[in-house]
Amino acid sequence: MNTTTNGKTILSNDTHEMATQGAESLFSEQPRGDVFKKMAIIGCGYAGTAVACHWQKQGHFVKVTTTREERVAELEEVADQVVIMQGNDAKAVHSLVQNQDICLLSVAPISTRQVDAEVYRETYIPTAKNVVAALTETATVQQLIYLSSCSVYGNKNGDWVDETSGVDTDNEYNQVLYEAEQILLNSAPEDLSVCILRLGGIYGPGRELIKRLSRLAGKTLPGSGESFACWIHLDDIVTAVDFACQNRLNGIYNLVNNLRWTSRELCDYVCDNQGLERVIWDATKPSFRALNARINNQKIKAAGYPLIHPETIV
Ligand SMILES: NC(=O)c1ccc[n+]([C@@H]2O[C@H](COP(=O)([O-])OP(=O)(O)OC[C@H]3O[C@@H](n4cnc5c(N)ncnc54)[C@H](OP(=O)(O)O)[C@@H]3O)[C@@H](O)[C@H]2O)c1
Repeated sequence: MNTTTNGKTILSNDTHEMATQGAESLFSEQPRGDVFKKMAIIGCGYAGTAVACHWQKQGHFVKVTTTREERVAELEEVADQVVIMQGNDAKAVHSLVQNQDICLLSVAPISTRQVDAEVYRETYIPTAKNVVAALTETATVQQLIYLSSCSVYGNKNGDWVDETSGVDTDNEYNQVLYEAEQILLNSAPEDLSVCILRLGGIYGPGRELIKRLSRLAGKTLPGSGESFACWIHLDDIVTAVDFACQNRLNGIYNLVNNLRWTSRELCDYVCDNQGLERVIWDATKPSFRALNARINNQKIKAAGYPLIHPETIV
């Protein structure tokens, strides 16, 4: 069943299942021309694992990384080879990308808690530098995809932004993300396609927005709640990564769904639907969200990518 709020249609879980079935049929598609490839995923967390699973189902050879021994068994379920390594280990990165066809970079510091800017820098920058150095010496890799973030746009007072808009150079975290993008775009060999996907906040199975926002019901949050956030479903990340590979995408692409809601609108929507008390906003305190912009997603659509979940909240 569909429900509508403020003229915007949101799909319920029922319809989401239908949308997901659509996604599964996309997922089960064989690679074009039955060409099976060697895929390397550096940083195999929430998004990386979903992509690994998809590529393995397609019959590709999938090699993934983790920094933690305890994750190896879990990752062996979705990958042909699991390597324990850190992105700052140049030799390990070099060895990982040898003879690969596609490389996905999907690293992030532990996302369940806030890390300081130095840890953030240590996670992204040496990894990006080592990846371009390794790819410069490895002629087999045709496509690099880096999962970046729309948070690089920062606070634009709710204005529309696209891939040509300026980025936020004040926030240290956004500086790091943007610097990593620039290293990958500007230092990679010319014959390598480099696609930067700037993601909205990721949601999907295990990271359901409904559950996450329901926990905030009745609580007071800092800020007016009037800042625009952006979101993307896990299924869309998986299929857009595949789309980028198949179409040799080059350059920066925003990957967000079609909802342009403020935090207040989204929280109200979820709380109202769940029969919960609304979130209370305290405008006297600064919001902890660095992003306040409406993100234009036309570029990836114009390239031919159809969103699987343009307006689904789960
Ligand atoms: N989460 C979001 O809402 C969001 C929003 C916008 C953009 N993004 C971007 O999307 C990508 C994927 O996010 P995610 O939520 O799937 O991340 P995630 O679940 O936190 O997974 C991150 C992965 O990076 C690995 N890692 C951490 N530090 C590393 C290092 N120094 N060297 C090598 N690997 C390292 C982790 O290793 P372990 O296996 O040892 O944990 C893990 O496999 C990231 O690039 C992130 O910046 C995420």
